[in-house]
Amino acid sequence: MKLKTEFLSFPEDFWWGSAWSAEQAEGRGNTGKGRTQWDMSWDAHPNRFYHGVNTDVTTDFFNRYVDDIQLMKQTGHNSFRLSISWARLFPQGAGEVCAEAVTFYRAMLNEMVAAGIKPFANLYHFDMPEEMMKIGGWENRAVVDAYVNFCATCFREFGDLVFHWFTFNEPLGPVLGGYMEDFHYPNVIDFKRGVQVGFNTILASALAIKAFKEHQNIHPDRSSKIGIILNLSPTYPRSENPLDVEAAVYADLFYNRSFLDPSVKGTFPEKLVETLRLHDLMPSHTEKDLCDIRENTVQILGLNYYEPRRVKARSHAVNPQSPFMPEWYFESYVMPGRKFNPHRGWEIYEQGIYDLCIDIRDNYGNIESFISESGMGVSNEERFMRDGQVQDDYRIGFIQNHLAYLHQAITDGCNIKGYHLWTFIDCWSWINAYKNRYGLVSLDLATQQRTIKKSGEFYQALSRDNGFHF
Ligand code: NOJ
Repeated sequence: MKLKTEFLSFPEDFWWGSAWSAEQAEGRGNTGKGRTQWDMSWDAHPNRFYHGVNTDVTTDFFNRYVDDIQLMKQTGHNSFRLSISWARLFPQGAGEVCAEAVTFYRAMLNEMVAAGIKPFANLYHFDMPEEMMKIGGWENRAVVDAYVNFCATCFREFGDLVFHWFTFNEPLGPVLGGYMEDFHYPNVIDFKRGVQVGFNTILASALAIKAFKEHQNIHPDRSSKIGIILNLSPTYPRSENPLDVEAAVYADLFYNRSFLDPSVKGTFPEKLVETLRLHDLMPSHTEKDLCDIRENTVQILGLNYYEPRRVKARSHAVNPQSPFMPEWYFESYVMPGRKFNPHRGWEIYEQGIYDLCIDIRDNYGNIESFISESGMGVSNEERFMRDGQVQDDYRIGFIQNHLAYLHQAITDGCNIKGYHLWTFIDCWSWINAYKNRYGLVSLDLATQQRTIKKSGEFYQALSRDNGFHF
């Protein structure tokens, strides 16, 4: 694809910003926040956490939000996605709401609004309260009800400050991490349980949207919207060989359409349901659940894009006695000659952002969307420090190349409203802690000192000019 090399100007009121989550950035604070699955994970496997760093302090946003919001302004933010911690609002997951937690979030959100930054609030970012996890987490229907109660509380307490809501961030993460690939609590390998977790989160999302609509009926004057944030990887077969193509169809079904279809269309892809039936993996559910999912679809979609998925047909037969995994249907492969981020090993394929947006335009009614995460994690980033500032030209190039494709997608009619980078200030990552830095602002872990990186200055100019020379 030939991209324009000129000043690329973005639509008026484009959302420039970044994202992070409560567990990764707030620190414990002093509201009596309840423990989460990450504390349980820490108790169970402390050695797994990079350099032994857990989520007690992280980037300490709880104590530093006033100054940090000024830094958001200095780095060009007109919008910012955070998450509200369920365990902070309800330390036991259910029961009485914590008044101090409400006061904290209201003060922080007020500060952001006063600075002219739109807060986008996500309601679940991998952070199940301990008491909920102990009774099965998303496997238990009672947890779905407790989550919906938490969401309704957020709409009531913060609905005058937040106008963009999201039910989940990357709901595939807990399924993969917790039940298939052993990187999230409860660290089990059981795809059937994973399917139930996936189904229950889709149901929880629909029921939260239902609660949101009820809340909107009381406040019709607030032009608020609710959506979901999905990690989607455009999936490419190794070749035109029908077996490779078929392999890509399955990988796409399991990892992309499984959440995308029910969230936007209210239905599950038939081929996915057939496959789950074939392997006796259907989740338990009621007709009413399906009806709630059908009737409560999202109004806006966040697209997290990091890398494409490349697959080929399996080169050897699976043993039908082995536990079922989606990989029965395909094998991943590394494309020779690919461009990649040496720090994370992830492929860098900027056109993927274009292909993803076109898919949403053509197959999902061109629903209002935005890039809710895109970013580059770099290890030992202090190597690039000169005169006290990280000279991250690689990140600037990364952003520009992705934005050029995003610009083309918008030119081609995609309903894209913004671009949020992962992330603002370097923050904690799941188990990897502070190994890979993604921020526009660097963090000195020993002193908590923040310094704007070169990319932060670039981002400020990008937002000010609403575009850049490519
Ligand atoms: C996806 C997740 O939403 C976020 O929590 C994570 O840290 C980033 N990607 C970077 O890996």
